[in-house]
Amino acid sequence: MEPAASEHSATDRVPISPNPRPTHVLAVSSGKGGVGKSNFVLNVGLALAMSRRRVLAMDADMGLGNIDILLGTTSPHNLSHVIRGEKTLEDIVNHGPSGLDFLPAASGVEWMTQLTTEQKIAFLEKMESLNGRYDLLLIDTGAGISSNVLYFNLAAQTRIVLVTPEPTSLTDAYAFVKVLSRKHSQKDFQIVVNGVKTEQEGLDIYKKLTLVTDRFLDVNLGYLGCIPRDYRLERAVMRQTPVIELYPDAPISTAYRILARRIAQLPPRAHGNELGLFWRKMIEPAAV
Ligand SMILES: Nc1ncnc2c1ncn2[C@@H]1O[C@H](COP(=O)(O)OP(=O)(O)OP(=O)(O)O)[C@@H](O)[C@H]1O
Ligand SMILES: [Mg+2]
Repeated sequence: MEPAASEHSATDRVPISPNPRPTHVLAVSSGKGGVGKSNFVLNVGLALAMSRRRVLAMDADMGLGNIDILLGTTSPHNLSHVIRGEKTLEDIVNHGPSGLDFLPAASGVEWMTQLTTEQKIAFLEKMESLNGRYDLLLIDTGAGISSNVLYFNLAAQTRIVLVTPEPTSLTDAYAFVKVLSRKHSQKDFQIVVNGVKTEQEGLDIYKKLTLVTDRFLDVNLGYLGCIPRDYRLERAVMRQTPVIELYPDAPISTAYRILARRIAQLPPRAHGNELGLFWRKMIEPAAV
């Protein structure tokens, strides 16, 4: 599938529909840091935007703004300005390449948990206004199981967990799935194996993980697919240009496009966890 470049204007990129389709909310996480989440969200988000899906990528990782850096942009304002009431969401949504919109990270730690209930409600109302404006909301949650990461995973309809063939990445992914399933009753996860040499390696890693989860946990792990190890990604990161734009024909770019297509085809959840409900859940305190 070679997606056509989107030529949406700023206005038709975020159309306001009177009867919007709910937004599919996906949280992208990993047990261990540095396994390729931000590049996944950016490049898969771009692939979806290129195939005319309305996509909002949200950088929920604390500290450094990953997506900003990968795109070589700087955002003077972010979600913390919205929470403080200094900016509207429209003010801070960045319009990236190919019609991809993104919300830059709020700097500071654990911002979601530091909000008062009133602040959460105010934030919720603002986020609810986005429901239906996008087909997909892809959230780069950051690594590990901080309460911020937990919030987004509990609220999302689809939980994507990235792993690499490194043994520590696998054990950390297992620990991540274990906490979400045992303490928070989350049963469904989609696994992506990043940095593989062959497709078979991706499948083998997935099987290794399911061997342990099947034995000790009550979870369903789906296999979304794999991403090859490709030096071009490192080059693209250095040049602050998405690899899918810099090297559209590279194997890694094809892999991101295949994953984007599979994400677009994921069946909607029966309980229809719409964006409104998604944010409403955040008001409820999450025990870590
Ligand atoms: N498939 C790949 N091929 C080659 N290098 C890769 C690949 N995936 C990731 N990398 C390397 O790993 C680095 C980290 O990737 P990325 O920033 O996407 O990870 P992350 O999971 O978001 O990290 P963090 O947990 O710190 O936010 C990239 O800059 C790149 O150099
Ligand atoms: Mg990151």
